[in-house]
Amino acid sequence: MSSAGLRLVAVDGPAAAGKGTLARRLAAALNLPYLDTGLLYRATGRRVLDAGGEPADPDTAVAAARALLPADLDRPDLRGPDADRAASAVAAIPAVRAALLDWQRDFGRRHGAVMDGRDIGTVIFPDAPAKLFVTASPEARARRRWAELAARGVVRNLAEVQAEMAARDAQDASRSAAPMKPAGDAVLLDTTALDIEAAFATALAIVQARLGR
Ligand code: CDP
Repeated sequence: MSSAGLRLVAVDGPAAAGKGTLARRLAAALNLPYLDTGLLYRATGRRVLDAGGEPADPDTAVAAARALLPADLDRPDLRGPDADRAASAVAAIPAVRAALLDWQRDFGRRHGAVMDGRDIGTVIFPDAPAKLFVTASPEARARRRWAELAARGVVRNLAEVQAEMAARDAQDASRSAAPMKPAGDAVLLDTTALDIEAAFATALAIVQARLGR
């Protein structure tokens, strides 16, 4: 089924590029529902870890993806190094992605949406009218993630945070199932030198132009 005509905004990009903050603000400004699709992979990985399983094992991970409940997305333990690694591991399994595909499409098709992730513009809604691929330098992204963690009381070594992020981005970009990459018609937005206000203003102008309003 085509999603042409729907107000769909795809916000893809690597870890800690600022996608979540931007996508949430775009959704509020455009009066659209917002979905953080990373939570689906994080919650799947967390279910596997809870059961003492191995996130890279396809059977275990697919069963966890199929068993997801809405409340799983509200769990407080979906962020941090273990959850990051488990999410990226389950996300590389094609059957896990397949199990989560219809739910994401149904979400977007109901009322339109702003969705952030890795494959929204390439796989979930390839005909979305507005697509952003948000990036920032590895150093800037690591500093942002480090600061986010610190604000939650989690004190980490900056170099370790950057190394973990680089490993996860490499895995996300090199997997064969829906690898992280910009869609051909995505607008690249590098937020390295932009604060949140400037990034938001730039993103909103791009999206409004694409949505035709
Ligand atoms: O917040 P951050 O950018 O660090 O990560 P996230 O967006 O919550 O995504 C966590 C992990 O889920 C990523 O490293 C990907 O492996 C996976 N993911 C994906 O494969 N496809 C998506 N649409 C969203 C996330």
